Amino acid sequence: MAAAKTKYDTVAMSLHWLIAALLIFMLIFGEDLMEAGEVGGTLAPSVHVSIGSAILVLTVLRLVWRLANPPPAYPAGMAPWVQMASKAVQVLFYILLIGIPLTGWLAMPRFLSREGAMTGITIFGAFPVPGAPNLGLPTKSFHELMSNLMIALLTLHVLAALKHHFVNRDDVLRRMLPRGIRSNAGQATD
Ligand code: HEM
Ligand code: HEM
Repeated sequence: MAAAKTKYDTVAMSLHWLIAALLIFMLIFGEDLMEAGEVGGTLAPSVHVSIGSAILVLTVLRLVWRLANPPPAYPAGMAPWVQMASKAVQVLFYILLIGIPLTGWLAMPRFLSREGAMTGITIFGAFPVPGAPNLGLPTKSFHELMSNLMIALLTLHVLAALKHHFVNRDDVLRRMLPRGIRSNAGQATD
């Protein structure tokens, strides 16, 4: 029998770090990109919706991959409530990773009408953003609120990862890092 999996596989890891990089970029520059559209035309909003859509597509791929390839077990000795908290944070991450792009899409009609029926925003220059229904709901506020919630959750997630690594000194962070990056303990030095 194969040894029990102790690390995330390469696909899960690549998707985790790619989505993390795109998301952090969006959390920092997302608002500016949409505001730049008010003076500078469609390029900046196109970057916003393109990267935002990429996050959505990559997240769906990641979920499908995860369902087929379950993550490694938690390190032995991790308290059940910590495991449950970790799972809850993961579920919330996935809800936000899908919810933020969707509410952004639903916020498009009002944004466009405020911008004088701006046309020409594209996803990677390949096709226009599909028309969204105008639900008459404060979708922009939902989009903004979920982005802020994401910042809070991400802060918690990063602090937890660092605590595991530097305080508990377990393998939680290493499970999400490429094989080369690990402690040298026990390695030959030839
Ligand atoms: C920027 C946005 C980020 C998001 C949305 C995110 C999301 C997630 C999710 C959903 C998981 C569960 C595994 C999976 O579903 O594939 C996970 C695991 C993990 N992430 Fe992140 N992450 C982010 C950034 C980071 C950063 C910056 C660090 C490093 C400090 C980090 C460290 C970890 C570690 C160590 C794990 C494995 C531990 C576990 O299984 O819970 N993540 N992340
Ligand atoms: C994970 C991906 C995304 C993040 C983190 C994100 C983040 C943000 C942020 C922080 C704002 C500024 C909100 C404010 O004014 O305070 C914003 C605005 C906006 N976003 Fe996104 N966004 C994402 C994806 C998308 C997508 C995929 C679309 C459309 C298809 C979109 C459409 C919009 C629109 C239309 C606005 C402006 C709303 C308005 O001013 O009326 N976003 N986004």
